[in-house]
Amino acid sequence: MNDTEAMVQAIELAASVRGATSPNPWVGCVIESTDGRVFTGATEPPGGRHAEVVALDAAGDAARGATAWVTLEPCAHIGRTGPCADAMIHAGIARAVIALADPDERVSGQGIARLRDAGVDVSMGEQADAVRTQLAPYLKHRTTGRPWVVLKLGASLDGRTAAPDGTSQWITGGAARADAHMVRAESDAIVVGAGTVRADDPSLTVRHVEGRDPLRVVLGTIPPGAKVAPAVEFRGELPDLLDDLGRRGVLQCLVEGGATVAGAFHRAGLVDHYIFYVAPAIFGGDDARPLFAGPAASTIADVWRGAITGVSHLGGDLRIDVSPITPSPITGPVPVVRLTDEGEPAEAPGIDHPQDRPEGIR
Ligand SMILES: NC(=O)c1ccc[n+]([C@@H]2O[C@H](COP(=O)([O-])OP(=O)(O)OC[C@H]3O[C@@H](n4cnc5c(N)ncnc54)[C@H](OP(=O)(O)O)[C@@H]3O)[C@@H](O)[C@H]2O)c1
Repeated sequence: MNDTEAMVQAIELAASVRGATSPNPWVGCVIESTDGRVFTGATEPPGGRHAEVVALDAAGDAARGATAWVTLEPCAHIGRTGPCADAMIHAGIARAVIALADPDERVSGQGIARLRDAGVDVSMGEQADAVRTQLAPYLKHRTTGRPWVVLKLGASLDGRTAAPDGTSQWITGGAARADAHMVRAESDAIVVGAGTVRADDPSLTVRHVEGRDPLRVVLGTIPPGAKVAPAVEFRGELPDLLDDLGRRGVLQCLVEGGATVAGAFHRAGLVDHYIFYVAPAIFGGDDARPLFAGPAASTIADVWRGAITGVSHLGGDLRIDVSPITPSPITGPVPVVRLTDEGEPAEAPGIDHPQDRPEGIR
């Protein structure tokens, strides 16, 4: 295998366990033995084996003299499992290709140093941008202590989220709802405002798809008997909320509205990724609820601008992914996908339909 092929396979392995490993990173590993046999591994749920160990166990004696491709630097510390760097050395791995160094202070170059000290030939950087995107929530958490914030909203074509009487279920169709539940399953916490709890009485659990229920957080007071209970009630400043969630090991926090909360997160510059589900529906007036409540940019020069990182059809609806335009120190420059007249990506850096989209941000 060449390095690119093998690392792309490792990235796909990591994607297959997205949502099952937090607060640990979702990592993939491919091992090729000297006689060309291929063994693979992906991170197991917390307390289980790391990707490298899964692949080493599968390889057994075939790991001697083999090459290993791994999406994140092997750990060098004893946590709930032994250090993966040591396991690779003991198994006799001769060459290791690693996409990214792990910023976790307990690893941070020590895994690479340990491999090199033991005589393993280590190469860094293969598919690093793709892995940076895939692991953005983990990288942000380990470098800032705060979770990656995804803001999700469902809207009509005229940018409205609820009727004047407060009803909003359901603007979009079943495919968009299932996709939104996938995003929930990949998130460790889900945040809504008390206004949404009062209007919709949502349970905020993962249905429609397999996955763990996130920690549920309500800004404000939960009314008695609300379906969302038990949930964390939070009153205070949003940056403090993110610090608190980070301390709880939340890597990705999904903000699901409503308009007041969406406006507060957006204007505070706390959103790392926006997901808009847009239905071909029109409320047709300005008394329906907007996407964002509160004061807008007061002049065109102050309008927030982002980059579209994905457009996909979900049934009759569209999903539009948008990232802040400033290159993030965590994810780097943002790829832009444009659709052709047929709805296919005109230039595809690999982000279009949900099933093709690199994991990490959905
Ligand atoms: N289409 C969609 O995607 C979507 C998604 C969600 C909701 N909705 C709709 O949106 C409507 C509700 O939106 P909304 O704007 O009325 O309410 P909201 O944004 O859900 O909640 C706002 C409330 O959250 C509480 N809060 C506490 N701390 C806050 C903080 N730091 N920042 C902001 N809010 C804080 C306040 O509650 P207190 O007043 O109790 O202090 C505030 O009134 C409903 O009609 C719902 O159906 C639509």
